[in-house]
Amino acid sequence: MAALLRFEGVSKRYSAGAREVVALDGVDLTIDAGELVALVGRSGSGKSTLLHLAGGLDTADSGRVLLDKRDVGSLSIAERSKLRRREIGFVFQFFHLIPTLTVVENVELPLLLDGAKRGDRGRELIERVGIGPRADHLPGELSGGELQRAAIARALVARPRLLLADEPTGNLDSANGEEVLQLLRDEVRTEGTALLMVTHDADATVRADRSHTLTDGHIS
Ligand SMILES: Nc1ncnc2c1ncn2[C@@H]1O[C@H](COP(=O)(O)OP(=O)(O)O)[C@@H](O)[C@H]1O
Ligand SMILES: [Mg+2]
Repeated sequence: MAALLRFEGVSKRYSAGAREVVALDGVDLTIDAGELVALVGRSGSGKSTLLHLAGGLDTADSGRVLLDKRDVGSLSIAERSKLRRREIGFVFQFFHLIPTLTVVENVELPLLLDGAKRGDRGRELIERVGIGPRADHLPGELSGGELQRAAIARALVARPRLLLADEPTGNLDSANGEEVLQLLRDEVRTEGTALLMVTHDADATVRADRSHTLTDGHIS
């Protein structure tokens, strides 16, 4: 399979006042289409930073991030945002659903922003993730597990080639977590999506094709 996402010697530093933090230190990583890769590591080890760079939400200080051979860091802001809308799905740790929109409106939002037809995929995905009866409710009326499912449906709606998930089972009990994981696996298999998933969940790691550990910005 061809490399969909490739990190080549990627470093990222943050300065917090006088203090400098090395969040990523020379990270090399390749993920192919159709692969599910788990990323583990202690809090502060650089996991979220790595996801942000993979998704073009931030840029590296040195090294390159390639998405299907395109150097994400060299794209303009407008090009990166188009790339995110069309090719990348995010499942954020804290959902980031818009509170004044219903579940189905939230899920269909990526399509609307891109001027695409809404079609049936939004509602189909809402059914598939098991929250069909919640489609016309507001996020404030949903449980944590239901919000997580809604966020996953939204991430999948535009059929992304790369799916980035920060603790997608973190808010779920083990039965629900298992179900969500199965759903993500199915998507990877049927659509050939590449999935990079940050997790603390041992079950999730076991079900991945591969797992990597971040330690103070170093990957192994
Ligand atoms: N915007 C930021 N400004 C300053 N420091 C940051 C910022 N984002 C992350 N960091 C620091 O970079 C390191 C890695 O953070 P992060 O990628 O969020 O780790 P993780 O997701 O593994 O907990 C931490 O030391 C964190 O405090
Ligand atoms: Mg994090």
